[in-house]
Order: sequence, then structure tokens, then C-alpha cells
Amino acid sequence: MTRRALLTGITGQDGSYLAEHLLSEGYEVWGLVRGQANPRVPRVRRLLQDVRLVRGDLLDQGSLISAVEKVQPDEVYNLGAISFVPMSWEQAELTAEVTGMGVLRMLEAIRVCSGITGSRGSADGQIRFYQASSSEMFGQVRETPQTERTPFHPRSPYGVAKAYGHFLTQNYRESYGMFAVSGILFNHESPRRGAEFVTRKVSLGVARIKLGMATELRLGNLEARRDWGYAGDFVRAMHMMMTAETPEDYVIGTGRTHSVRELVEAAFGAVGLDWERYVVHDRSLHRPAEVDLLCADPKKARTQLGWEPTVSFEELVAMMVEADLRLLSDGEDPDQYSPWP
Ligand code: NAP
Ligand code: GDD
Repeated sequence: MTRRALLTGITGQDGSYLAEHLLSEGYEVWGLVRGQANPRVPRVRRLLQDVRLVRGDLLDQGSLISAVEKVQPDEVYNLGAISFVPMSWEQAELTAEVTGMGVLRMLEAIRVCSGITGSRGSADGQIRFYQASSSEMFGQVRETPQTERTPFHPRSPYGVAKAYGHFLTQNYRESYGMFAVSGILFNHESPRRGAEFVTRKVSLGVARIKLGMATELRLGNLEARRDWGYAGDFVRAMHMMMTAETPEDYVIGTGRTHSVRELVEAAFGAVGLDWERYVVHDRSLHRPAEVDLLCADPKKARTQLGWEPTVSFEELVAMMVEADLRLLSDGEDPDQYSPWP
């Protein structure tokens, strides 16, 4: 029997890679799209021709119930969110509604459509649920590297909303016996990454400078450290969690950490330029509260799921810079309408 998956966040980076992966595994893939004329939908239709679309919004409970009823999925991947951390200070309430309460609405849609009314049933034959949890929940980290047992200390309204969604997913598993899992994913990037995130901002900035289209790149905190991996590797982990025998939460990351400064050095180095001649430190881009250091301990995923990342930090940076050189040379500019500095 063909398995059916419903993805929220299909127009985002992870939605595209996960859809491709599930299609290659023989799934029928459905993507939830919101809005009356969402400008990102034509891109999804171009990139993912075999994905079917269903309308719905994480802000609208009824639309999620209708989507689950229509698609009758075996697996639901909740990737939809306000995912850009600085936006979560500007629109904290919206972030709480989409990134936090959206998880409740999706879990309730599954619960209602599955007819789960009492407590703790059996997970057999139920719709499986994946929640896109985040290393941003660790925030001001209590220990390094971070594991599934590291306590949370979120530092942004986004991180707080993700922590709510994370605990709620655990709670539905414990309350109703649902097969509901959270992947605590560390930063993962690709040529499809949104232009507002630092890796893509840097790869686009380097490509523009190399092609003579810009003379400087303005960045905020260069000392922050992240565990950056490749999105294509990380979506495989999501699927592995969902097809495991038991529903459990996993930390997914590479186990290596680099500073923004090292990212910049590697990206300019990839095209033979000296970053110090072009990067301008801009204090206005610092955050009200920063997450200084993230570094995963992915041992549980390695030993229980057999998951391994395949792309190194250096390969990832080179891949992104090369892709943006090609894109800009072809006359495209994904950043042209971005409201973010
Ligand atoms: P992304 O590119 O920013 O995509 C976010 C998606 O959420 C978009 O498809 C967007 O759709 C959708 N969305 C926003 N508001 C919505 C709403 N009200 N209803 C339904 N969908 C809505 O994010 P990503 O990098 O692919 O990340 C996927 C998920 O993983 C997110 O939940 C993110 O928080 C989480 N995460 C990401 C990382 C990472 O490093 N990438 C790490 C840990 C966790 P529209 O086109 O309609 O705006
Ligand atoms: N975006 C951005 N722009 N970040 C900058 C800049 C800049 O100009 N200059 C320095 N940084 C620093 C930020 O202060 C942060 O410490 C780091 O670069 C990474 O920022 P982002 O790429 O915006 O990612 P993030 O770590 O805040 O959040 C991403 O990863 C989370 C997982 O840890 C997002 O994908 C989240 O959705 C995800 O949950």
C-alpha cells in the first residue's frame, strides 16, 4: 500500500527536501498551502511536480481538520512556522499562534479525525505526527554538547513557542498514546535556505561581491557559534524517526560547531577573497538576547536510527556559494524583495 504523507511548510526549505525524499521512497505527498494567492506556490509546483496541494493554515483549526480528512494521511510532518528568530520579537503574538498554538491545532486535527477521545490508546494504525522542534529551545545552554536530556532555556519568543510545541507533542504521546515525535534539529542549510538566514545571506553576499554587484556585506554578531549541517541530510532523519518502532525524540546535528566569523572566512575563501575587506560589523543587527553557542550530541540518532550526516561544513558553504554564483549569473535574485537587512 502506498503511504500518504501530509506536510505543513511545503513552501519552505525543509518542506521541499522532505517532499523529494518521501517521493523517492514511494510516498504520495501532500503539501498544505495557505493564503489566497501565496507567491511561493508556483515555485513548489515547478520544483515538486508530483506533490499534491491542499489548502489550510496553522491559524485555522477547521482548515486543518478538513485537510486531514481530505488527505487521510499515514504521516503528518509539521514543518510550518514563523521560523526567523528576529521576526519573533517583532511579531511575538503571531509567532506564538503559528509556531506554538499551530502545533496544538495540528495535533487536535489528528486526534479528532482519528476519533481518539479517551486517554492512552494504542499507537498501532494511527496517524503518525512529526514536530519540527529546534535547538533554539536550548538557548542559553546549560551544557555542551546538547543532548535529548539537556534542559531548555529559550532566548527568543520563537524558542519559547517551539518549547511549547515540543512539550505538547510529548504530552499527546503520553496522554493519548499517539505516535508523536519531535526532532530537535540544529541549524541546517542549503541553496534553498531563505535569504534572511545568516548562511544564505553570506553566500548571496559573497556571490554578489565576486560578480561586482556589491561592495560590502553587513553582519551582526560574528562570534555566535552554530552547529550547521545540510538540510538534505536532516530530512532523512525526520523520516527515520517516523518509521522507527517506537515514538521517541531525537537531537539531530553534526556535532561540530563554527562561529559566524568562520562561516564568513570559509565563504569568501571559496572564491579567493579576503573577507576582512568586505564585511562590515553592524551592531543594529544584534539580537535582544543571543544564543551564543549550539553544538549537538547526535549519539542517540546515530546508534538508534543509524543516521549520519554526509556533508561537511566546508562542503556545505562551498555548495551554497557556487549555487548563488550560478543563480545571480543567470539574472535571478532571491533577495530582491526581502524586508530584512
Ligand atoms: P522556512 O523555510 O522558514 O519555512 C517555513 C514554512 O512555514 C513555510 O512553508 C511557510 O509557508 C510556513 N508557514 C508560515 N506560517 C504558516 C501558517 N500560518 N500556516 C501554515 N504554514 C505556515 O523553514 P525551514 O527552514 O524549512 O524549517 C522548517 C521547520 O523546522 C520550521 O518549523 C522551523 O522552525 C524548524 N526548524 C528549522 C531549522 C533550520 O535550521 N532550518 C532548525 C530547527 C527547526 P508560507 O509560504 O505560506 O509562508
Ligand atoms: N540572520 C542573521 N543575519 N544572523 C546573523 C547575522 C545577520 O546579519 N549576523 C550574525 N548573525 C548570527 C545570529 O545572531 C545568530 O547567532 C546566527 O548568526 C544564526 O542566525 P540565523 O541564521 O538567523 O539562524 P538562527 O540560529 O537564529 O535560527 C535558525 O536555526 C534554528 C535552529 O537552531 C532558524 O532556522 C530557526 O528556525 C531554527 O530553529
